[in-house]
Amino acid sequence: MEYRLSHRAQNLRRCMMDAFHLRDAKDMIFFNSGQPAADLYPRGLMRAVLDKLLAEEPQILAYPGSQGDEELREALAERQNRLDAGAGIRAEQIVVTNGGTGGADLLAQLFVDPGDAVLSETPTFPETLDCFAKAGARLAGVSMDADGPLPDELEHLAQKCRPRFFYVIPNFQNPTGRCTSPERRGAVAEIARRHGFFIVEDDPYRELNFDAAPPPSYHSLAPDCTISMGSLSKTIAPGIRIGWLVLPEELVERAVMTLKATALCYPALLHRAAARVLEHPQFDAHIDELRRDLKRRCRLLTELMSAQIPTEWLTWETPLGGMFLWCRLHGGVSAMNFAVRARDRWHVAFFPGVCFTPNYEGEEFSLRLTFARQTDAQMAEGVRRIAAALKSFQQN
Ligand SMILES: Cc1ncc(COP(=O)(O)O)c(C=O)c1O
Repeated sequence: MEYRLSHRAQNLRRCMMDAFHLRDAKDMIFFNSGQPAADLYPRGLMRAVLDKLLAEEPQILAYPGSQGDEELREALAERQNRLDAGAGIRAEQIVVTNGGTGGADLLAQLFVDPGDAVLSETPTFPETLDCFAKAGARLAGVSMDADGPLPDELEHLAQKCRPRFFYVIPNFQNPTGRCTSPERRGAVAEIARRHGFFIVEDDPYRELNFDAAPPPSYHSLAPDCTISMGSLSKTIAPGIRIGWLVLPEELVERAVMTLKATALCYPALLHRAAARVLEHPQFDAHIDELRRDLKRRCRLLTELMSAQIPTEWLTWETPLGGMFLWCRLHGGVSAMNFAVRARDRWHVAFFPGVCFTPNYEGEEFSLRLTFARQTDAQMAEGVRRIAAALKSFQQN
């Protein structure tokens, strides 16, 4: 049988990260998965709220509406407004999606026709870009420095490509860990407004600051030209698949129609349970524990690396939150060759920087390590292996 695949299916890019995921590889130490350690999922809270819901609210198992559970949308709006004074989000603007990735896919369905340009920071989180690429987007990247995306480059690409939108991760960015400065946010919003494209602000790491909270969101600075994406994958658990979009109210009906024609609706039981977890008096303590744990892990990783890896071989940017350490190799060692050798010979897995570029070009000497999930002993052994693998390159 010969199948004729749709253009959409043909547009799908093979995700470069897959080669380094290797979930069932024995003896592998992983520095590649951006999710909280399993013992930090708030399982006690979830069990309690699920038990109560199933015992007392059987209607929660009926077909839900397509926009997402109202109590969850209220809880999300309330929390966003508390974390980001001035966000002024209303529950009616929120559409609950299948994780943040479902939100990206919904945006692609709403706004991207084949050949449309979509800009993103580079490097960035590639699996969101896959949603835009599937819809036929032409992707282009705006380089970053420590303060965020470069306004001159954005201006140039805005003139050249007339993008539909600019996808950004302003807080504890994946993969660089950087936070876009308030001035840079202002400059980006000004360019977006002048050229008539909108900013898609993906913000799953906002609550994971080690110390100071991040600056006000694009949404609070420029609500007229921003669509926000959120996710509970990093603060509750990725397996519940809850994300959301904050849309201008006039777009909500179209978004809900699109979502209905995609999945009909998503699990209200999990929506309502997540709402009760967010509203629970112990949830803030859970977030504090997550923050403290990530800060401690980040310090442990950088201390282990400082002790074993000379700065002539590898340096990194110390993040102020999130889950990622963005590293740079020196002496002309290619990060792809290094990652492949480290995986195959030393059984330690991480992503080379090129995985995070919109068109899989550049970032030849960069790599991303995640500190979110290993045990301390695995981290120590993993750094030992990384140092040994690097040494083997120095000896060649
Ligand atoms: C910036 C960013 N957006 C979205 C996602 C995907 O999240 P979700 O599990 O909500 O689909 C991730 C996951 O790593 C991410 O880093």
